[in-house]
Amino acid sequence: MQINGKAFRTIWFDEKDQAVKIIDQTKLPHKFEVKNLNTVKDAINAIKTMEVRGAPLIGATAAYGIVLAIMENNDPKFIKTNCENLIKSRPTAINLKWAVNRMLKKLSGVNNNEVLKIALEEAKLICEEDVKFCENIGLNGLKIIEEIYNKKKDIVNILTHCNAGWLATIDWGTATSPIYHAHRKGVKVHVWVDETRPRNQGAFLTSYELNEEGVPNTIIADNTGGILMQRGEVDICIVGTDRTIATGDVANKIGTYLKALAAKDNNVPFYVALPSSTIDWETTDLKNIPIEERNSEELSHAEGLDENNELKRIRIYPQKSKAMNLAFDVTPAKYVTGLITEKGVCEASADGLKKLFK
Ligand code: MRU
Repeated sequence: MQINGKAFRTIWFDEKDQAVKIIDQTKLPHKFEVKNLNTVKDAINAIKTMEVRGAPLIGATAAYGIVLAIMENNDPKFIKTNCENLIKSRPTAINLKWAVNRMLKKLSGVNNNEVLKIALEEAKLICEEDVKFCENIGLNGLKIIEEIYNKKKDIVNILTHCNAGWLATIDWGTATSPIYHAHRKGVKVHVWVDETRPRNQGAFLTSYELNEEGVPNTIIADNTGGILMQRGEVDICIVGTDRTIATGDVANKIGTYLKALAAKDNNVPFYVALPSSTIDWETTDLKNIPIEERNSEELSHAEGLDENNELKRIRIYPQKSKAMNLAFDVTPAKYVTGLITEKGVCEASADGLKKLFK
């Protein structure tokens, strides 16, 4: 997608530097910086500190992390330990485990002279597939937006939470892909962007990327969606997910569940967009989804530009106050109108998923 009119992806391998390149998302929207990952430790750190974030993108970073590990020290013990560290680097998104297992399966039995070449090819393939999957998610979701537009004959107001945009994937995004497709096709859309406290992925990343693509959008505080739905100002909610379990229950950024409840109460369709790499086929009880708890300083401190255009971090809570920072919640399948995947749209249920993915 576009930044200043130039097409970018979120991660790529640079042959000249022999390094993995990422867009450092902790600097956005204030600074656009491309950064090198030279070691597997760099990759793990980038995932933990959220220089890269979003389920599909951290999966791809883990795949490239294995490539970097092989480049550093092609020793089975070193690779195994780092695969475990990559999986542990963030607990909720299943894409980490999915990508590491896929890489290990591909590399099993490969002889030492070939292992780096095959690992690099597989990491690149994971990225290419993600782009294709996200593009197809867009085409499948586009039909839903078009249906609303054809009935309403006016701008379709879409509410989204967090950033399930191209910055969270390799390109296109999941929740944003139908929006980009609609916009390019001339279907009039406007996006309500949940700010998404505490890290503000909505305000900092979703709004930023929609602006770069020229899609009309308005940032709202996280608690505003309910009243907008009561007023009939939201036609559809589309969000992403970090892990959709075999029952169709969906883990996503904290606050998603409350939006789904409000949507249900107001008969607003609530869709979740995901590639199949985000499906956890082994988990059948939503209570078993690990929910990441992050440093409470993400709540008690805020960062922004000061009057001299310098990035500044300030404390906004009383020093003595305790804070708790759960990063994800789970929306039960009964509140989800449908899952938009690369293969089509299905009911959020075990049957719906099985029918689509056999
Ligand atoms: O903590 P983050 O920013 O990694 O959380 C991202 C989300 O919650 C996204 O909605 C999810 O990963 C889907 S990305 C296509």
